Amino acid sequence: MNLLYLVYFGKSNMKVLLTGGLGYIGSHISYLLGNRAVIIDNLSNSNLNYKKLLPFCKVYKKDANFKNLNDLFSKENISHVIHLAAFKSVSESLINPTKYYKNNVSSTIELLESMKENKIYNLIYSSSATVYGNSHTSPLDENLSLNAINPYGSTKIICENLIKEFIQSNINFKSIALRYFNPIGSHPEIKLPDKPRGEAENLMPKIIKCILEKKILKIYGNDYPTKDGTCIRDYMHVLDLANAHIKSLKIIKKIKGFKAINIGSGTGFTVLEIIRQFQRSNNVKLNYKYVKRRKGDPAICFSKVDQAKKFLGWRPKYNLDQMCKDAWKSYNF
Ligand SMILES: NC(=O)c1ccc[n+]([C@@H]2O[C@H](COP(=O)([O-])OP(=O)(O)OC[C@H]3O[C@@H](n4cnc5c(N)ncnc54)[C@H](O)[C@@H]3O)[C@@H](O)[C@H]2O)c1
Repeated sequence: MNLLYLVYFGKSNMKVLLTGGLGYIGSHISYLLGNRAVIIDNLSNSNLNYKKLLPFCKVYKKDANFKNLNDLFSKENISHVIHLAAFKSVSESLINPTKYYKNNVSSTIELLESMKENKIYNLIYSSSATVYGNSHTSPLDENLSLNAINPYGSTKIICENLIKEFIQSNINFKSIALRYFNPIGSHPEIKLPDKPRGEAENLMPKIIKCILEKKILKIYGNDYPTKDGTCIRDYMHVLDLANAHIKSLKIIKKIKGFKAINIGSGTGFTVLEIIRQFQRSNNVKLNYKYVKRRKGDPAICFSKVDQAKKFLGWRPKYNLDQMCKDAWKSYNF
C-alpha cells in the first residue's frame, strides 16, 4: 500500500477516481496515490505509457460521461473524485469554443449527476488561475471577482458555479476547487512529462521543444511593466501540486459545502528569468526572439497562498532550479 496514502487514510479500501488521470497533472497524483487510484481517461490528450509507468493503477480508457461513470462506480469502491478531465488550450478555445463548452462543462454535469446517483459526495475540482481574468492586481486571492477572458476560462468559472449550486441542493456533497497557477517539472525518477498531443502552449514544454528541435522560442512582449519587460507568472513543481490534492483528500471531510483554494508558489518569475534558469540548470542553450504581445495576457499574475497554508497545511517544497532540471529530465531520453 502506498505510504503517503496510508498516512492520510489508514487501511480503508476506499479508492479515488481521477478523471483525466493520464494527463500531465493527473498522472503525478495517480503515482502518489498508487493502487488507490482508479483512472478514467479517453486519451484525447495523453500518450502516456501507463501500463509501464502506472502499473498499480486501474485504468478505464473511456470518456468520462454519465454512462461510463455509472458503470465504473458500480464496479469500484470510490469515495472521492478528482475531476481533471478537460481541454486546456486557451488558443484552441478561442478558435473552437463549443468544443470546450461541450467537453469541459458537459463532463462536469455528467460527473455530478453520476456521483449523486452513486452517493459519492467528495469532489476535488481542477480549476485555474485563469478564472481571475486580467483586471486584478497580484497577489490574487480567492475572494476576488471572477472574470474570464477566453472560453477556456469561462468553462472553469461555469464549472465552479455549477458545483457550488449543485451543493446547495445536495447538502451531503462537498467540493474543493483548487485554482492552479503554473505547474512545471516532473517526477525526478519516472518520466511523466507535460507533453500535450498537439502544439504545446505552456512555457516549459515550449522551451524544451525549441531546444530539442533547434527552433527559436517566441517571447510575447518585452514592454510589460516588469523588471525585464517580460510577463511574470507563478510557477510550482507539479509534485507540489499533486501533493496539494493528497492534502485536499484528507481535509475535505472537515469542510462544509464549497471551498476554492489557490495553489501556487506565491511569487512570480519573468519569462526571461525562467529561460535563464532553465539554461543554467541544464547547461543548454535556447534561442529566443521577442514578438508582439498576445491579446489578453496579464503582465503580472501570481497567487496569494494563505488559504492553502491555513486550510491544507500545504506549502511548496521545490525551487526553480529543481523544477527546470526535472522538466528537462522528463523529456530527455
Ligand atoms: N497544466 C496547467 O498548467 C493547468 C493550469 C490550470 C488548470 N489546469 C487544469 O488541470 C486539469 C489537468 O490539466 P493537465 O495539464 O494535466 O492537462 P492534460 O491535458 O495533460 O490532462 C487532461 C486529461 O484529461 C483527458 N480528458 C479530457 N477530456 C476527457 C473526457 N471527456 N473524458 C475522459 N478523459 C478526458 C485527456 O486525455 C488528458 O489525459 C485540467 O482540467 C486543466 O484545465 C491545468
